[in-house]
Formats: sequence, C-alpha cells, structure tokens
Amino acid sequence: MTYNTIESIDPHQDLILAFEQNQVDFDRIADLTGVKLKSFEGAFGEYEILYSRDGGQVFLLGLGHASDEPRRHEAFRKLAFQTRKRWSSALQLDARAMSDRLISNAILGLELASYQIGFLKSTADDQERNAVTVGIMADREVSSIVQEAQQTATSINRVKNLVDSPSNVKTPSFLADWSRESAADYGYRCEVLEEEELERRGFGAIVAVGKGSIHPPRLIINQYIHDEGSPVALALVGKGITFDSGGISIKPSQNMHYMKSDMGGAAAVLGAVELAARLKLPINLVGVVAAAENAVDAKSFRPGDVITSYSGKTIEVIDTDAEGRLVLADAIAYTLEAFKPEYLIDLATLTGSVVRTLGYSAAGLFTENQEMADGFSRIGEDIHERVWRLPLYKEFEEDLHSDIADLRNFSNQPIAGAINAAKFLEAFTEAHPKWAHLDIAGMAFGSSEYAKMKSASGFGIRLLVAFMKSLTSK
Ligand code: BES
Ligand code: ZN
Ligand code: ZN
Repeated sequence: MTYNTIESIDPHQDLILAFEQNQVDFDRIADLTGVKLKSFEGAFGEYEILYSRDGGQVFLLGLGHASDEPRRHEAFRKLAFQTRKRWSSALQLDARAMSDRLISNAILGLELASYQIGFLKSTADDQERNAVTVGIMADREVSSIVQEAQQTATSINRVKNLVDSPSNVKTPSFLADWSRESAADYGYRCEVLEEEELERRGFGAIVAVGKGSIHPPRLIINQYIHDEGSPVALALVGKGITFDSGGISIKPSQNMHYMKSDMGGAAAVLGAVELAARLKLPINLVGVVAAAENAVDAKSFRPGDVITSYSGKTIEVIDTDAEGRLVLADAIAYTLEAFKPEYLIDLATLTGSVVRTLGYSAAGLFTENQEMADGFSRIGEDIHERVWRLPLYKEFEEDLHSDIADLRNFSNQPIAGAINAAKFLEAFTEAHPKWAHLDIAGMAFGSSEYAKMKSASGFGIRLLVAFMKSLTSK
C-alpha cells in the first residue's frame, strides 16, 4: 500500500470513517450517504458498509471504548481483511479527529491485513493484491507516523512469513541467509558462525542440540550500532529451534507440526533488529540467534549425556526436549562475554508450562529488575503485547542440581516448568543486573480469525522496539 495526504474527501471514492463507542456522528453519515443509521454503536471491531450519494463506499468502523485503545490496530486489520476484496485502488482515511496513536494503529492494521499466509500455494500468484493508495486527510503533518507504522508492519509481516515457513525450508542456514539479506538491505552488521567454528570455539550446547540434524546449527550475530564510540545498550538473544521434534526424548506426534514455530524468539529478535535499523533508532543494539534443529538420529545427543557449555559449565541432559534452554545458555554466555551489554533480554518459545499458566494472553516475564518489570508491563499493556511477571525464587535452584555435572537441564518434576527453565537460563547470566527473560511459547504462534490453523503472530517485535524507545528517551 502507498500513502499520501489529501486536502479534502472525494465522495466518489471509498472512505474509512472510524468512531469510538457511542460517539458515532450520525448526522455526518446521513449527509454523506443519505442513510439515517440507528443500529451502529461503534463497538470494537463492528463495521458497516454504506454508499455515499456519489457512489463511493463508506466503511464505518467501531473503535470501542477507551480501554480498547491498545488493540485498535486489530479493528482496522479485521476491517481490511474482510472488506479488501471490495476496495478500489484508492481508499481514503479521515484522520482529522484521530490521535497520532490511532493513526499509527490504523496504518498498522491495514498493512498487517495484507499478510499472505498462502505463500506456498501453487496458486499464490493469483492472490496478488491490487495496489491500493490510501489518501489520508489530516489536520497536521502525519507522514512520519505513517511511515513508521508501515515499516513496522512490513517487518512484522516478513517475520511472520519466516515463522509460518515449514522446517524443510527454514533451516538454520536459511535463517542465517535471511538475516544476512536483511542486514544488507537495512544497514546493519550480520555475522554467522558455522558448525565447525561453533565446535572449535566451545559452543558445546548448541552443537549438541544440533548434532542430530542434517541441517547444522548456526549462531547469528547482528549488530546495529548507532554510535561506534558508545557501549552496547541492549543485547537480544533468541531461541531459534527451526524444528523441535523433542530429539530422543521425542514429542507425541499430535500437533508436532506446530514445532516449526520454535524459532519464534529468534524471529522476534531478527525482526526487532531489522526494525530498529529501518527506524534508525539512536541505540547500540545487538541481536544474537542460536539456530539449530532438534532432530532424532543416530548422531543425536541423548538423555544422560553431559555437555560442556560455552560458559564452561557442564550440563547433564535429563530431557533432550528441554533443548531451548541449552542453546540459549551458550548464546547468553557468548553475548555477555563479547558485548557486555547494559541490558540483556532473551526471548524463547521455551515451555509448554507457560502456555498452561498464561494461555494465549501474555508472555511470561522473568526478571529480578523491578524497573524492567514495570517497564515491560506498562509497554506491553500499551501496545497490546502483554507480559506477566513470574518469580525467580531462590528455592527453585535445587531443581537444577545434578550429581555428576554443574547442573541439569530439567527438574524431572511436572511442576513450575516455566520457572525451572528461567532459573536454568539465569545460571548463565552471571547475575546480570538488567536481564529479563520472556517465555513467548503461548504468544508466538496461535489461533486467529485470519487462518484456520494456528499461525505466526509476530509477537515481540513491537514490544522490543517500544522498549528500545523507552531506553533512548530516558
Ligand atoms: N519448544 C518447546 C516448548 C513449547 C511448547 C513451545 C508448546 C510452544 C508450544 C520446548 O522445547 C519444550 O519441549 N519444552 C518442554 C520442556 C520439558 C521437556 C522440560 C515442555 O515445556 O514440555
Ligand atoms: Zn523441546
Ligand atoms: Zn523447543
């Protein structure tokens, strides 16, 4: 979609008019269309299609109550998704009464609706969308808001495409190539460590997890450095398991196909670095992705194996399905050593336990840092990518005890799984005072009204970029 600003509304052309709940301007609608509407309340996501006296379509959209503000992009997305087939090549948006935040959400929603989940269908070309130009009528300069929303949505859609891609396509080297291309296109550095080098440099956990696959592991290291002379403000680390079969501790086959999304944390990191670079945020940012496939093979690592991680700590593998924490242990230890970031945030589709705890409503947030906990809670509510804090109590340390190694990767108890995983990661953070872990297992991939099966959500990109902005505006 392309955008321009318009001086006046052309009643011959299509128009979107959005209203908050019980604030519908019925007189204006009557003037425009000749229809005296009664039934339209402006409830969240409600829409109605009328015709103006001059033949343009008028899309009335309900924005709901003030409490619906954070998720209003979803109303625009639904409207666009469900009515797009009727759009002509020019669409108008009356943004005069809209706040900056609402304009941003409107563009975000319109752009997100253009995501094509059927990209691998043999008929994919037939789905080519008509080019639409959106004319925005505003009483002020809004081009920077529009551009930022558009770039945000483009990066989210690109990342959703990655998460929805099947694991025979999306190998660790595919993720690395994607990242290299993104870095070249948007102006940041991307370095990739291949298996031999990972082995030579002591990334024992990543190598162990990736051993059973014919698609060898990769460590992807992205740097978007705004100011060469300053330290790294924020490092992001993402779990990039391109398929999680469970390994020798194999998963049941029901729903195993969804485990192609086990790189949702990596996707958020890749997308957030790309977007930060596109928006030219004034921040020194690093994004590290540990990419591997957890496969079943004669060469696979086994339950009972002891591996030496990058940090030097030895780990007894109780369950090969607890592989995410293993690859993250190496990636976190490396990131701290190489970049000494002020803030460290890891994201991972780490546990089924967090899905049982918080469902599909929020990501699990683990941190000892009150400021980060408050910040993420507030930002998450604000943009409707919510997080909910869970504890890192000391008593859970016992669950990591191993008789023969420094620690084990699973407590072997069916309780507090998300906390247990977070405590394991904590052991590799060197008590970093500004570390947070986000378990996004319930959020990265889920049901939506736009697909019959579960699909990628793009969760985390806007959350991370909003967090970066909160740092840079301090
Ligand atoms: N990738 C899974 C977690 C997951 C589950 C993500 C459901 C998305 C949806 C992870 O590697 C895993 O298998 N975790 C196990 C850990 C257990 C074996 C200690 C789990 O949570 O059951
Ligand atoms: Zn697993
Ligand atoms: Zn996993």
